[in-house]
Amino acid sequence: MSARAMPERAQRAIAECRRIATTSEEPDRTTRRFLTPPVREVHALLRARMEALGMTVRVDAAGNLRGLWQPPGSGARRLIIGSHIDTVPNAGAFDGILGVTLALECAEIAQELKLLLPIEIIAFSEEEGVRFGVPFIGSRAAAGRFDSALLKLKDAEGVTMADAIRAFELDPGEVGKAAIGDDALGFFEVHIEQGPVLEAEDLRVAAVTAIEGQSRLTLTWTGHANHAGTTPMHLRRDAMAGAAEWIVAVEALAQRTEGLVATVGRVVVEPNSGNVIAGTVRVSLDVRHADDAARKSAVEALLAQTEAIANRRNLALQCARQMDQPAVTMDERLTAFLADAIEATGLPLKRMPSGAGHDAMVMAACLPTAMLFVRSPGGISHHPDETVLEEDVAAALEVCRKFLQRLVAEVG
Ligand code: GLV
Ligand code: MN
Ligand code: MN
Repeated sequence: MSARAMPERAQRAIAECRRIATTSEEPDRTTRRFLTPPVREVHALLRARMEALGMTVRVDAAGNLRGLWQPPGSGARRLIIGSHIDTVPNAGAFDGILGVTLALECAEIAQELKLLLPIEIIAFSEEEGVRFGVPFIGSRAAAGRFDSALLKLKDAEGVTMADAIRAFELDPGEVGKAAIGDDALGFFEVHIEQGPVLEAEDLRVAAVTAIEGQSRLTLTWTGHANHAGTTPMHLRRDAMAGAAEWIVAVEALAQRTEGLVATVGRVVVEPNSGNVIAGTVRVSLDVRHADDAARKSAVEALLAQTEAIANRRNLALQCARQMDQPAVTMDERLTAFLADAIEATGLPLKRMPSGAGHDAMVMAACLPTAMLFVRSPGGISHHPDETVLEEDVAAALEVCRKFLQRLVAEVG
């Protein structure tokens, strides 16, 4: 096999990401939630690439597409490489999927170099938490951290997670079997930075040191729906006004707390009519901080504020906690190999934490894990303008090549 040049690989990976972005639940924008119909097409595309690489391909019961390359004569433990194929609504083309297309390039590079390194590529089914409100469905299952109570969660259409899995012709009772055994040597994920730091410092890539912890909650404010024209202001129980007051308090707390980010990104209003006082308002809350204690105390402070606002406005309040994921540090040894690979490529070594959540943060609970960031032009992500530069992707691939070589030299 003659070696393919990195710029050519970068072009191919980018074209594939853009092609996959057209595989969507919605006509003119990219939205691909957990195990929805377009996922079948993405699996077909990726499966064809995996099979062309001589991989053994399967879909586990959590909907993760997995391809295993076992080089003849190698008894080494496998390296798992991958990222996710679901998206946020109206997404860009690179969040998650770049890490899958680059994993395919890594496998081909390893084959060209005749590395005696088994590689498993995982295209994780779910990382964003859009369909069922709980993220990392795919990586939780792969890491052996899937709680079967999640199968009862319902999406906006009332479909349970178990039924969504069955509709994809998979068996929810088998999700436990998706767990990776003890024969893997580590997990490696390439992902766009999704922020402005690398661009501001004129850098192509960075080694991720840690991933910030996240809490995700849903709060339901209940008042009384009533006529907007006839109900005097002092006799209202307006769920919208209560939620709105609190949303501003969320922003204010994050603004005055060093290192804290807090977001209300989703509001569902009932009955959602211009001439009716809102009876029920359901809002999401996403809170992140590098320090777990700071994150937890921010969540508690915000919940105390909900109580105060709800009592004053005579509203009822329900709180569902969907996630409390601690901050995670990347594996020191694998990250040192990655740092060496960045320097050996002739790039300045940048180490940075990730504010975004990644499959790597879940996989790190069961395997030594390392992560490489690629610059996000304009710092834009979770938006159709999300993009990458071809030269950055080519540089990242060169780093991957050196990382794989280093890994084999050390552990092979
Ligand atoms: C994943 O994209 C996240 O919300 O961090
Ligand atoms: Mn994302
Ligand atoms: Mn992502």
